[in-house]
Amino acid sequence: KRNFNIVVLPGDGVGPEVTKAAQRVLTCLGDIYGHTFSFTEHLIGGAAIDATGTPLPKETEAACVAADAVLLGAVGDPKYDGKPVRPEQGLLTIRKSMGLFANLRPLQVSPALSHRSPLKREIVEGTDLLVFRELTGGVYFGERTRTDTSASDLCTYTVEEIERVTRAAFKAAEQRRGKVTSVDKANVMETSRLWRETVTRIHAEEFPNVTLEHALVDSAAMHLILRPRDYDVILTENMFGDILSDEISVLGGSIGLLPSASLGSDGPGLFEPIHGSAPDIAGQDKANPIGTILSAAMMLRHSFQLEDEADSIEAAVAAVQASNQVTRDLGGELGTEAATRAIIDAIRAIHWAAARHVP
Ligand code: NAD
Ligand code: IPM
Ligand code: MN
Repeated sequence: KRNFNIVVLPGDGVGPEVTKAAQRVLTCLGDIYGHTFSFTEHLIGGAAIDATGTPLPKETEAACVAADAVLLGAVGDPKYDGKPVRPEQGLLTIRKSMGLFANLRPLQVSPALSHRSPLKREIVEGTDLLVFRELTGGVYFGERTRTDTSASDLCTYTVEEIERVTRAAFKAAEQRRGKVTSVDKANVMETSRLWRETVTRIHAEEFPNVTLEHALVDSAAMHLILRPRDYDVILTENMFGDILSDEISVLGGSIGLLPSASLGSDGPGLFEPIHGSAPDIAGQDKANPIGTILSAAMMLRHSFQLEDEADSIEAAVAAVQASNQVTRDLGGELGTEAATRAIIDAIRAIHWAAARHVP
């Protein structure tokens, strides 16, 4: 029984709706297990630009670094398109300043949900993969230039940046099915050639018992759709990981289902769904809260070592899905609110059933 200080960054669009859902789930678990989750909200993204002129106020940054963990909704709004200051910069800066170099994006396609995918059930069912996306390097953080007639974004990686995310991915694979697929563009890009050499060396020196394969990002994008069950851990650089993880989300039926954990070597982690601010459905009780609720489960597991509590959330989400209750993005009827309520009720039901079996 412990106290945890969680900084909540609701952000923009559906962000406040989905973080509220995850907070309710955490509060419910706190009641059951006797933990206290204290939430402190801070500004990020467009909401922060409107209030303070900057997408990441210093107070927010300081609060995140001092927190036990950070829960984030999403940032971004079309109203900032073409403006010099963008909401997305707040997210990039907080990832960098918290040193969150590894972004874990798991996807499992359960039998209960496999018919909801636009892809054939027999292809997607049983998929269980984990993307390790490098999060603080590459083209996202390289020098940018712009004149009236040209623009450039520099893509840089150091050996050390590649090594640390590679070790994290191999360690995760050791706890899973023991396979890493490293995705790059080594037939064209110098950063990818360094990536491939480094991953190959770390594999040989430190993780020879894990199976390593290399894949080029274009054909990997195809094979992930053709035979997703063949993948276990996918290790890749920042931008390829961003793109491939949205693609992979289609296997499960909706981007709204996917959580993520952003972790560094020490210090607090940041937990957020992989989707964006979804301005097209914001404020309408339509957002699927599960990606954020499962991000809270990842927080419990990775930052607080609360395995049972994390398992409870995942079991409740699975139970709700097995009872065929899903949100609109998956062809169902539930709103954000009703989906959250169903998951909380399922958590209570699971614990009530378990308590009755105590002698
Ligand atoms: P998006 O992920 O916001 O939305 C893509 C599509 O998926 C939309 O049709 C949306 O309605 C749907 N969708 C997303 N989340 C959903 C959910 N929880 N439930 C149901 N449907 C959901 O991507 P976009 O439209 O390309 O980007 C919108 C804004 O979000 C942009 O400003 C972008 O920069 C930003 N963005 C932020 C993050 C983040 O904060 N981590 C991630 C991606 C995009
Ligand atoms: C994500 C988003 C962000 C990214 C944007 C909003 C900066 O797409 O978290 O996947 O590209 O990393
Ligand atoms: Mn993205």
